[in-house]
Amino acid sequence: MWSSAWTIASFILPFVTHTRARLPDGRPHANTLPFPKVPVVTADDLRVTDITGATLPPLSTIYTFDQLIDHTNPSLGTFQQRYWTTWEWYETGGPIILFTPGEENAEPYTGYLTNETINGQIAQQEHGATIVLEHRYYGLSNPFSDLSVQSLKYHTIQQAIDDLEYFATNVQLPMPGGNDVSITTTPWVLVGGSYSGALTGWTMVNKPGLFRAGYASSAVVEAIVDYWAYFEPIRQFMPANCSADVEAVIAHIDSVFTSGSTSEINHIKALFGWQDLTHLDDAAGSFPASEFSLLRNQVRYNLADWQSLDVGTGPGGQFFKFCDALEVKNGVSAPASGWGLDHALQAWGSYWTTTYYPQSDPWREATVSADGQDIQSTPQQPIAVGDGFHCSDLLTFNGVVDSTVLAVQTQGLASIKGWLEGIVPSKRASVRFGRR
Ligand SMILES: *[C@@H]1O[C@H](CO)[C@@H](O)[C@H](O)[C@H]1NC(C)=O
Ligand SMILES: *[C@@H]1O[C@H](CO)[C@@H](O)[C@H](O)[C@H]1NC(C)=O
Repeated sequence: MWSSAWTIASFILPFVTHTRARLPDGRPHANTLPFPKVPVVTADDLRVTDITGATLPPLSTIYTFDQLIDHTNPSLGTFQQRYWTTWEWYETGGPIILFTPGEENAEPYTGYLTNETINGQIAQQEHGATIVLEHRYYGLSNPFSDLSVQSLKYHTIQQAIDDLEYFATNVQLPMPGGNDVSITTTPWVLVGGSYSGALTGWTMVNKPGLFRAGYASSAVVEAIVDYWAYFEPIRQFMPANCSADVEAVIAHIDSVFTSGSTSEINHIKALFGWQDLTHLDDAAGSFPASEFSLLRNQVRYNLADWQSLDVGTGPGGQFFKFCDALEVKNGVSAPASGWGLDHALQAWGSYWTTTYYPQSDPWREATVSADGQDIQSTPQQPIAVGDGFHCSDLLTFNGVVDSTVLAVQTQGLASIKGWLEGIVPSKRASVRFGRR
């Protein structure tokens, strides 16, 4: 079953489609969550050679592909889709490892050509070549020069899936023999994380038999509009004392903001420096500060910092500093039940106003590993879960510092090895890569 072979590395804290809606009065909706994304890994500007020792073009070299604007109507013409590629480990007949970071400018993602990431690890193991493809409508891969409703008509999941097929069928890669690696004759492996992990899963289902294998990390395959469950993994996995106190404070603020007296409301506003806040619901929302600097009032930031954690983050991580502020009193840590509302409310307010003022991944509930899901891992569709955060398994380094992430990567690589067995060149057998 080569055709339906794919692996889902679903992490404790994976990504989701998310709302960025506005309230009727124009204010951004408080339920907007921090953007999930594939971790950026930019390759060092090192000299890269192929297996014959020949120097390869720099990894930052930009190539373009003439992509169809509308796969249902090719007469509409093409746009230039950017991609990056290298063939450090490639041997003739080897697989092509295709990755897109999804909803991002792909330019800083050149690390996904190298063995700093799972893509390169697959290529190294299978003697394949790697490609980073920019997703339509991101970076400089735009079908149109504007983002009008008319232009955005072609920004659909189906067009994005069809892009992958059309690219893999028609691209002429710059490497020797690269004009003869069409997916119709060569095994291709699709890799993605976060949204592009979901895209990987959807592509495997939508185009059965097209890609020989797929690897989807933190694949948020379920679209969820009111994603309250973003906070569930955080609540479950943060230190118990911090979790207990945060729950107590949130319940208290909820209750005062919905049915408290003006003086009770003002007391809380004063604690957090929200005297100028008109709309109480603005206190709770959570936006990345860089994008919405006017909305930095929102205490959900303290919890959203969880998303920035990764397996290599030590106790100095922003999220842990927040918990220390709540839970360490005169040098003593609170028991698992926390210090209780009174201390926690004061301590949070003080941390918020004096220290924080901002700067695993809560997207699990949109993946196949969501609570209450009972999706079985099978040899054709293995599901591997480690103690990572959002897309942790994509990065080689995370496997070095965390054995559970390494186990996911090892399982993914082993599955792909099995699926490609007998198809790709092995070190000793078959034709060696050579100049043509
Ligand atoms: C990754 O690739 C580099 C060359 O680009 C090589 O020196 C290194 O040994 C590789 N790492 C592993 C773990 O194989
Ligand atoms: C209590 O909080 C401290 C400080 O953040 C933390 O180091 C410790 O692990 C927590 N203990 C429990 C039982 O939650």
